[in-house]
Amino acid sequence: MDFNKPRYTPMNRRRRIYEGKAKVLFEGPEPGTLIQHFKDDATAFNAKKHEVIDGKGVLNNRISEFVFQHLNDIGVPTHFIRRLNMREQLIREVEIIPLEVVVRNVAAGSLAKRLGLEEGTQLPRSIIEFYYKNDKLDDPMVSEEHITAFGWATPQEIDDIMALAIRVNDFLSGLFLGVGIRLVDFKIECGRLWEGDMMRIVVADEISPDSCRLWDMKSAEKLDKDRFRKDLGGLIEAYTEVARRLGILAETDGVPMGGPRLVQ
Ligand SMILES: Nc1ncnc2c1ncn2[C@@H]1O[C@H](COP(=O)(O)OP(=O)(O)OP(=O)(O)O)[C@@H](O)[C@H]1O
Ligand SMILES: [Mg+2]
Repeated sequence: MDFNKPRYTPMNRRRRIYEGKAKVLFEGPEPGTLIQHFKDDATAFNAKKHEVIDGKGVLNNRISEFVFQHLNDIGVPTHFIRRLNMREQLIREVEIIPLEVVVRNVAAGSLAKRLGLEEGTQLPRSIIEFYYKNDKLDDPMVSEEHITAFGWATPQEIDDIMALAIRVNDFLSGLFLGVGIRLVDFKIECGRLWEGDMMRIVVADEISPDSCRLWDMKSAEKLDKDRFRKDLGGLIEAYTEVARRLGILAETDGVPMGGPRLVQ
């Protein structure tokens, strides 16, 4: 089955607001809402590496729904309203703060390289990093000084973002620990949600194996986008395994040719 062909909603009749590397944003049914559509495209190294991986968008939509719904339920504000279909979710439109907020528990990726740490080294405590969202510049790392000097966020907003990031880290660490997965690190994006005159910072975008490093606790096998970055293969199988452990896919579901089956 071609998952790129819309089966539920006629995509061509909706206004397309933005097309990114992994998702498309459409105008939502009500003012202040958007539809977030998950594509199968996988990119890495600022899109220098690109592939279409059949079924990835379906899995990310469902895993991200699971995480965001639980965050809403424990009082961590997010943009998520509800999932609409296999590939799409209804979200609140926010003013994205142009930062990638990375939380790290274990050394991996660029941190391991930059500081000469062995991958897998437990960090002395969770570390929050900020990267300026700018593809032309390869998303450079920035400090709070840069963020406030250039007006990307105020000191109060940075405090709110860090508090959110820590709550998300605690929730995700426990969630994955319970299913035998080590949360190495992850990235979130935050945005300003306006409700009348009031503004609050909420978690936006997605939280999925595309934006987390997830290692199997026993085997240390990678269950995230590093499978694509490092040409390890088996990306869909890994994402399916994450979904299965979270209880999103039925125990009996394998990876059938037509893509993963979803439990409603
Ligand atoms: N609630 C929201 N309101 C407005 N924009 C959002 C919201 N959630 C996510 N976005 C934005 O939607 C886009 C999602 O598309 P995608 O993840 O494919 O982008 P991308 O290729 O990674 O590019 P970018 O560098 O802009 O993130 C991102 O630009 C993200 O910042
Ligand atoms: Mg993105």
